[in-house]
Amino acid sequence: MGQNSELERYITNHINEESDTLKELYRYTHINILRARMLSGHIQGQLLKMMCRMINPASILEIGTFTGYSAISMAEGLTDKSAHIDTIEINDELKPVIEKFINKAQFEDKISLHFGDAREIIPTIDKKFDLVFIDGDKRQYPEYYNLVFPLINDGGYIIADNILWNGKVLDPITNSDDYTKGVIEFNEIVKGDERVERVIIPFRDGLFLIRKASTLRGQSD
Ligand SMILES: C[S@@+](CC[C@H](N)C(=O)[O-])C[C@H]1O[C@@H](n2cnc3c(N)ncnc32)[C@H](O)[C@@H]1O
Repeated sequence: MGQNSELERYITNHINEESDTLKELYRYTHINILRARMLSGHIQGQLLKMMCRMINPASILEIGTFTGYSAISMAEGLTDKSAHIDTIEINDELKPVIEKFINKAQFEDKISLHFGDAREIIPTIDKKFDLVFIDGDKRQYPEYYNLVFPLINDGGYIIADNILWNGKVLDPITNSDDYTKGVIEFNEIVKGDERVERVIIPFRDGLFLIRKASTLRGQSD
């Protein structure tokens, strides 16, 4: 076993346990659903939950529900009773699984599911968000960013997953596929965007934490 797996087990042993529903969802996804490794998992789920505790968002948008692990993790971190999550998934075959586990977690009132292409659905949303979690198709990250940006409240956050893309971002010449290109273009757009503060957490496949600067008092925070 590699050192990374041992460290991951050490971390897992020292953080909060998954809820029973998340544990069951993790197992169910790995037994029954293709490409189960796309799911956030225990450590990232707890991180998203903790970020929701810290940011205390009233409204969250997620792009890429998959089987619902990250949506349920974030819902577990919401302290405000009226806080709400909208989550978009293109693959409607996942609907019964997502619904089953959202119901098990008793988050039917907290999480709204939307099925379809996020690029078509986002322009129809008449709502502002305090947090957007981008975890859809990596080739489309630049489009997601441009579409969600106007919907984010001043001082709101974007968390984007997989932005190190297994290290491939370091070598765009060898890795000239559309997925790597999408991630690299996204990272460059964020880097050049003076409207945001940004930091990368080198956890798993890399998380970009982006804060839309407040323009309320004309300050450059
Ligand atoms: C990495 S998985 C999401 C994992 C999930 N957020 C979690 O942490 O458990 C990416 C998901 O995005 C979905 N997806 C891809 N393109 C999309 C699009 N244009 N609109 C909405 N969902 C999309 C895929 O079907 C897949 O289920």
